[in-house]
Amino acid sequence: MEQLNELKIATTVETDNHTWFRAARVEDFPANGGACVKYGDQQIAVFNFTRRNEWYACQNLCPHKMQMALSRGMIGSQEGEPKVACPFHKKTFSLRNGQCLNAEEQNITVYPVRIENGFVYIGVAKP
Ligand code: FES
Repeated sequence: MEQLNELKIATTVETDNHTWFRAARVEDFPANGGACVKYGDQQIAVFNFTRRNEWYACQNLCPHKMQMALSRGMIGSQEGEPKVACPFHKKTFSLRNGQCLNAEEQNITVYPVRIENGFVYIGVAKP
């Protein structure tokens, strides 16, 4: 498990495998909904899945028609798997591993999320 104690003061922290960046405060994200944050030129959809008491993050870009849309998607569970459905054509992706669950579609990138001192941090994998 990566150690994130330094996050109390820093806006980004480097660990062995990830750069963790402070996305926003917990209360900036709607309950059971998503919001989009930016990291460099990447758009990342962040979900406060309060029904499951879990947080998830994934690329905001839907690979179907290249729409920046997933943060506005509907979240839910399918056989225990947390998922997001794109608001355009309802392609559905696992929030755990990014796999498309209802079509032959490219997987999406998912990111780990940590909550520290009321802030949401997203881990971006190092190359
Ligand atoms: S653009 Fe997302 S499902 Fe079509």
